[in-house]
Amino acid sequence: MISNNIKKFVFGNPINTGAVVKDIDTSVGVPKEFEYDRATDSFSFSFEKDDAVYGLGETVRGINKRGWIYVSNNYDDPHHEETKSSLYASQNFLIIDNSKRCFGIFIDNPGTVTFDIGYTNSDLFTISFEDNDTYFYVIDGNTPYEIVSSFRSLIGRSYIPPIWAFGFGQSRWGYESADDIRTVAKRYKELNIPIDMIYLDIDYMQDFKDFTVNPERFPDFENFVAEMKNEGIHLVPIIDAGVKIQKDYDIYEEGVAGDYFCKKEDGSNLVAAVWPGKVHFPDFLNSKARKWFGDKYKILTDVGIEGFWNDMNEPAIFYTEDHLKEVFSEIKNYENMELDIWSFFEFKDLIGSIDNYPEDYKRFYHDFDGIKIRHDKVHNLYGFYMTRSAGEAFERNNPDKRILMFSRSSYTGMHRYGGIWTGDNLSWWSHLLLNIKQMPSLSMTGFLYSGADIGGFGGNTTEDLVLRWTEFGIFTPLFRNHCALGCREQEMYQFEKTSDFKNIVELRYSLIPYIYSEFMKAVLNNTMYCAPLAFEYRHDERCKEIEDQLLIGSSIMIAPVYEQNKTGRYVYLPEEMKLIRFRSCNDYDEEVLSSGDHYVKADLNELLVFIRKGKVLPLAKPARHVNDIDFENLSYITFDSKPDDYDLYRDDGISRI
Ligand code: GLC
Repeated sequence: MISNNIKKFVFGNPINTGAVVKDIDTSVGVPKEFEYDRATDSFSFSFEKDDAVYGLGETVRGINKRGWIYVSNNYDDPHHEETKSSLYASQNFLIIDNSKRCFGIFIDNPGTVTFDIGYTNSDLFTISFEDNDTYFYVIDGNTPYEIVSSFRSLIGRSYIPPIWAFGFGQSRWGYESADDIRTVAKRYKELNIPIDMIYLDIDYMQDFKDFTVNPERFPDFENFVAEMKNEGIHLVPIIDAGVKIQKDYDIYEEGVAGDYFCKKEDGSNLVAAVWPGKVHFPDFLNSKARKWFGDKYKILTDVGIEGFWNDMNEPAIFYTEDHLKEVFSEIKNYENMELDIWSFFEFKDLIGSIDNYPEDYKRFYHDFDGIKIRHDKVHNLYGFYMTRSAGEAFERNNPDKRILMFSRSSYTGMHRYGGIWTGDNLSWWSHLLLNIKQMPSLSMTGFLYSGADIGGFGGNTTEDLVLRWTEFGIFTPLFRNHCALGCREQEMYQFEKTSDFKNIVELRYSLIPYIYSEFMKAVLNNTMYCAPLAFEYRHDERCKEIEDQLLIGSSIMIAPVYEQNKTGRYVYLPEEMKLIRFRSCNDYDEEVLSSGDHYVKADLNELLVFIRKGKVLPLAKPARHVNDIDFENLSYITFDSKPDDYDLYRDDGISRI
């Protein structure tokens, strides 16, 4: 197909990653915007002074990516510090924009890709590869919005979850039994805090084995799933990538018999270790293995489960059997050594670097439907193909209804099969801000159903952080409080001011008609659910630098408070707007504010929403579950508009469309 605004260049002999759904004719040569350096096999672009760079989905740092070096190399790292270059995802889509011109690029390369965005040389953007077999797309458009829409039509429609997945979900690693889960449900019910999901972390499994349920701690699982559903709660279990090596464990036995696992050079199955101890990794790039593993989700959907989260699928490796042997043999050399500063660190690193060890990713191979490929060359596809395995199986086995699915690791293309959560953040205020900055980049790249662990996953949180994070989280499609084993408990009922939490979560439920409508419009029209101000107010120079206010859908701007001990914040209004200071869905004040800078008060229990001129915000009455929301009798907050001006999207929320 000839596309006027998308050009496709091919370098070397790339594989079809599945990222793209449109067939586009190949252009010859090198993209005109870039210079190609044969010696380093890299492409570079010279920035103009006021160029901003947007995109890359889930990464560290700001909405404008200029000034740092980002490496697409999916990585299990629970320290999302700004000095890092890689997180769990690779979304190689970027827009380079100044007010005079803009264009987008998409690098479809499943191996390691480095984006040096003015890090080495502040005026130079350089793209380099570990393996240069690459598709390179250049996308023209008059505005970032147009470029995003073209890119999204190139990669296909984003995943649509069931509507109940827009409710609140409580999670924690460490709910050990059905009774623990019942307690969570009961405590939320007692406080009348709305809830639709409770997540099951690895604790529900028997010895961390995929598709098993511990029969002592979760007896009669099918009845338990039904009991919770009667309470209006969906249980959402985790599935990990590694399959435990254990004789008589049927999934392991079938995987070995069917040749479904990733192999080493000598043809034996790779042995790595993750939560279950020693595991094999299913070869999700192989369509037979993908079908085999995907069909296993049926074991749980058959007992009433309707949603999953896929984890450890970078894949995370605690160690491989081979590397561990190497380390043990090398460590002996240090036993009688007088350790100097260098040998001490070498010794320390021997142990410290056994997990996610880069050389381990070169030890195993995929059978990519007949093509043998070393894992590191296609590393970033693994999480995508695990989720594709589930998504394809759901289409086969559950053709009539939507199944909730989100994953930790991802690559462009996975957005058609599931959403993502942003992995193991920390209970840091700066990670609340990071979450704010990640959301528009995720919307750009088609990962619309996404969110972070609210309250922070690692570390001990505080009540005010959970509350402020919840105030932001009510605008993220995936709205889940999740926490690590051993950290301070952070369910809303663990804190003093439970009524503040109730009010905020109720507000989320009141906003669901709006949030779901705007989400669905973004999916169906390839637009953005959550956008930076710079995309909308193109010629307002101030908006280019505002990264802590966001547009959510077409009607509102939000300005979250993300620092401790703050009872307000500065907000910049690019146009006149109506401020709504919400304390709950039926307790708020309204004030019209002129364009420009304002200091706006927002106590700990208050959150700020700004309605754009001519727009409407519909609100439902509070409900305990998404199913109870009355979509027929909405109230409307208007600003120079009428309720009818709002185009409410509706469907049954569960059928596939
Ligand atoms: C990983 C996940 C986290 C989960 C934990 C235990 O760290 O990112 O969400 O709780 O594994 O399964």
